[in-house]
Amino acid sequence: MKEKEKTKTKDVALLLMAGKGERLFDELKVKKQFYKFDGKELFLYSLESLALSGCFRDIVLVVSKEDAEKTADIVHNDPLLQKTDISIILGGESRNESVGNAVKALRRRKGNFNILIHDAARPFLTVDHVKNIMAKTYRADALTYAIPVADSIFHNAGKGIQYMDRKDLYQVQTPQVFDYRKLLEIYDDGYDPDCTDDFSKAVRAGLKTLPLPGDLILFKVTGKDDLLLLKRLSAMPVE
Ligand code: CTP
Ligand code: MG
Repeated sequence: MKEKEKTKTKDVALLLMAGKGERLFDELKVKKQFYKFDGKELFLYSLESLALSGCFRDIVLVVSKEDAEKTADIVHNDPLLQKTDISIILGGESRNESVGNAVKALRRRKGNFNILIHDAARPFLTVDHVKNIMAKTYRADALTYAIPVADSIFHNAGKGIQYMDRKDLYQVQTPQVFDYRKLLEIYDDGYDPDCTDDFSKAVRAGLKTLPLPGDLILFKVTGKDDLLLLKRLSAMPVE
């Protein structure tokens, strides 16, 4: 194995890729994180940005057992990843479990550090997105990118359509970054399993939080519309 680049930071990045990709499976015939987009598996796009940012001591990929070997092979064959320390940990049935497995597995590391969590299903993470959020960690215990809701928005459950004031509404994205020991405490204490991300857990736990202006390009590949978007983006250079 080639010598890994030594960095001073103790910070860690988690790339979440243990999902089943069910909503797009019929279309893609493969879990979306392994879909080959312009010749490269989707998860490699954000992984390369994490690696090239130079912000992390190491990167942990959270994968399902059946994909562990395949993932290791893909990573091993990517020339851009040769200088980065990358390991694999097994995820769980839900996103919450996947994060929990990885967060708990790091508890024996010495001291404290920041932990960045990113969905591999958001492929267009750039080095700038990473550097920008990591540069602001001194300001809060939990940070996330979030974008203001641009469209009119209504709620439609039981009582009919009720328009909401979009002025104060935001869509929450990843990456999200946390003070590691504080996030570990949340996972050790137990949390509401309905939380769909980790920033919400930090909000409920009363940590010091900081939302940062997000970016449309950090969209999550979730349904068919996102595939159309991917195809359109394929014709354009993405910074
Ligand atoms: N994820 C994970 N472990 C799980 C479920 C999700 O690591 N048990 C990850 C996914 O791989 C993805 C991110 O969390 O990068 C966001 O989840 P989502 O978009 O819902 O992806 P999937 O769960 O794979 O898709 P689907 O819900 O359509 O099955
Ligand atoms: Mg899911």
